[in-house]
Amino acid sequence: MRPVVLVAGSANLDFVVQADHVPAPGETVLGQDLQTFPGGKGANQAVACARAGGVRTRMLLALGEDGFAVPVRAALEQAGVALHMVPARDRATGTALVCLAGDGENAIIVAPGANHVLTGDDLPPLADVAFLLMQLEVPLAAVCGWAEAAHAAGVRVVLNAAPACALPDALLRRLDVLVVNEGELDLLAGHAGVRADAPTADKLAALPVACVVVTLGARGCYAWSGGRVALQPAFSVQAVDTTGAGDAFCGALTAGLAGGATLAAALRRACAVSALACTRVGAQSGVPTCAEVEAFLREAPPLAAAARSALADYAGLAHCPLLEPTC
Ligand code: RIB
Repeated sequence: MRPVVLVAGSANLDFVVQADHVPAPGETVLGQDLQTFPGGKGANQAVACARAGGVRTRMLLALGEDGFAVPVRAALEQAGVALHMVPARDRATGTALVCLAGDGENAIIVAPGANHVLTGDDLPPLADVAFLLMQLEVPLAAVCGWAEAAHAAGVRVVLNAAPACALPDALLRRLDVLVVNEGELDLLAGHAGVRADAPTADKLAALPVACVVVTLGARGCYAWSGGRVALQPAFSVQAVDTTGAGDAFCGALTAGLAGGATLAAALRRACAVSALACTRVGAQSGVPTCAEVEAFLREAPPLAAAARSALADYAGLAHCPLLEPTC
């Protein structure tokens, strides 16, 4: 029986305008025609888990009873994600306004809507669930409740701490894996009393989580556990839209771990999935299939040792021993 990953989190309809650049405060920018795409960090991660990761995936989510819900739900079902839907009669489906700049970067504002009706009591039975994957676009109290229940049931708990906010220690202690970007790491370490200009190892050591994975955008990522690191430089692609790249990474990483991959192998695959996800417009449109990921990895040039040490230098972790043999 293949392992089950339960993704609990947000689902949005993304309203995307492509423009030359992201407007500065007070600036108006003329863009192209409006496009809509299924999105939301939770839904993006569920699609990546199922489509690129090939694991059985369920999702706990809330949608409004409106037209926005239709494409969001259809995209999840098309990717093979089984849905545990909480009805939100009085709230609109979550939406995100995405400004997409010519270089693939973006600026996003989210109206959570139905995502905010989710509570800690909504978690479905966990009997066959191996991993729970969560983000922070739903109420923090719900995330804390789900983490507590999953941990008690022996389910491994992964949190992507995005969008960043201060997290209670009790939640962090329930996590098996925390996935953050550099800004999110600084924020969480700051709440633990470590300044942003402190050595990276001090920030990581301040968090009471067994394994912290840090994504570094176009540079790649690393995992840190007990003072040891696994480093994975990014794959080079022609990026047209980085929206959801981090979500593709989290979904693929969790799928890899649930499938029994080593941390280093799961990081490599997650980096490949996230790179491919950037090659098309839309948070879920570029998420590759398992076969596409395999083909990409077969064709990828072998990684130069120099790229790994450059990444370690950039992250300030060159002095750390390796976590496990790298692949
Ligand atoms: O991480 C990208 C996602 O953030 C978008 O799909 C948008 O819906 C927001 O949730």
